[in-house]
Amino acid sequence: MRRLYLPFILVPLAVTVLLLLTNLSVLADQGECEVRAVNLIGAWVDAGASKDEPFEFTAADGETKCQGTFAEDILPLFTQENVWAPNTPACKSCHFAVDKNSAHELDLSSYEGIMTGADSLSNPDNPVKIVVPGDWKNSKLRSRLRDNRMPPGMPFDVTEANRDGPVVKAGKDQAEVRAVNLIGAWVDAGAPKDEPFTFVGEDGKEHQATFQEDVLRLFTEDNIWAKNTASCKSCHFAVDKNSAHELDLSSYEGIMTGADSLSNPDNPVKIVVPGDWKNSKLRSRLRDNRMPPGMPFDVTEANRDGPVVHAGRRVSATPQAVETKPAESQEKPAAPEAVKPAEAPGSRLSELPVVVGGTGLVVLALGLAIWAVTRHKTTA
Ligand code: HEC
Ligand code: HEC
Repeated sequence: MRRLYLPFILVPLAVTVLLLLTNLSVLADQGECEVRAVNLIGAWVDAGASKDEPFEFTAADGETKCQGTFAEDILPLFTQENVWAPNTPACKSCHFAVDKNSAHELDLSSYEGIMTGADSLSNPDNPVKIVVPGDWKNSKLRSRLRDNRMPPGMPFDVTEANRDGPVVKAGKDQAEVRAVNLIGAWVDAGAPKDEPFTFVGEDGKEHQATFQEDVLRLFTEDNIWAKNTASCKSCHFAVDKNSAHELDLSSYEGIMTGADSLSNPDNPVKIVVPGDWKNSKLRSRLRDNRMPPGMPFDVTEANRDGPVVHAGRRVSATPQAVETKPAESQEKPAAPEAVKPAEAPGSRLSELPVVVGGTGLVVLALGLAIWAVTRHKTTA
């Protein structure tokens, strides 16, 4: 009877401490609006990537107008751990300064660093801009966050030296060339099916190759891109619902058709732009790793834009607010079934620690009261 108050104190205390330990990032994630992390960054960039001015974004429900700021809503996505997936380090743990020791001389810990971009020491005249203010679609940061390198299962060990893939042999004289450079030379030559095209080998000299003999096998043979990796065509085998992204990498016609041509016959995703390798999606797929490294390969259209985070605050949907919203920030109009009621279940979930913590405090107060009463009784 005398120790009746003990569980009232110990249980809520333990629960509160446990919640604090496991949910610190959730507690920090206190904005009012639910939005995909990559879309949030996109709205900020499209609004001009300002350091201090608030920017508008549309919540994941496709309707609610919200406002955020760089300092409160964008920067934490780069400086906090476990934002992008469980057990992933913060971006700034690798990209911490404009410094040789920081990955790609990139500083993601400050506004200035993000705007400076990568490789500004090695290449002061032409640093790699990762953000194009006003143009998220062409911002490198976007594809880094959305894309996975192909084929899946490749270790994250991409450096400038190996981004272009393994050295393979091609042409009549079996000259050495990086796989991605070989595909690039073919695309830049107009992606011919039968005519030979010229490529520059690792020896710096020009050689000739053909699609049928030298390029196609990069998609159809196992272990080309790394040890123990399946051929591209093992997953992308036909223009078929069961083939990843309805993509067929086993034939010339399939490669030229591109992805999603069944779901989206009017606007399939072209992966090769004949004559323009730089702007061919296939190139970035082969060269880029999704950030942060260590993220599992389970990218689908539904989760490419990263996790749902809570950001900003709601603004009343005045007609002006609707008009000033940049139309480009939304790639596709939200599908009707994607429109959720304003009170989505996810938002309540993130309030969980607060609710449980509050309940814990109430129970704690109750325990203290019982303790005071019993103490009073025993001492009286
Ligand atoms: C564990 C270390 C690590 C973490 C964490 C990390 N990166 Fe990287 N990042 C790298 C390395 C190494 C490279 C260079 C390899 C490459 O080119 O793919 C790189 C390259 C990049 C590039 C390309 C720069 C260029 O010049 O092309 C961008 C952009 C980038 N990271 C953004 C991010 C973002 C955003 C995050 C957090 C979501 C992040 N990184 C987390 C290690 C990391
Ligand atoms: C183990 C199965 C698998 C293998 C092997 C594979 N892929 Fe993929 N690929 C996928 C999946 C799943 C997706 C969709 C996920 C995503 O969007 O990132 C995808 C997406 C793509 C896309 C993007 C299509 C789009 O609409 O954006 C391209 C391009 C691509 N793969 C090319 C390749 C190439 C080139 C290879 C070989 C070097 C390859 N894939 C090997 C499973 C695979």
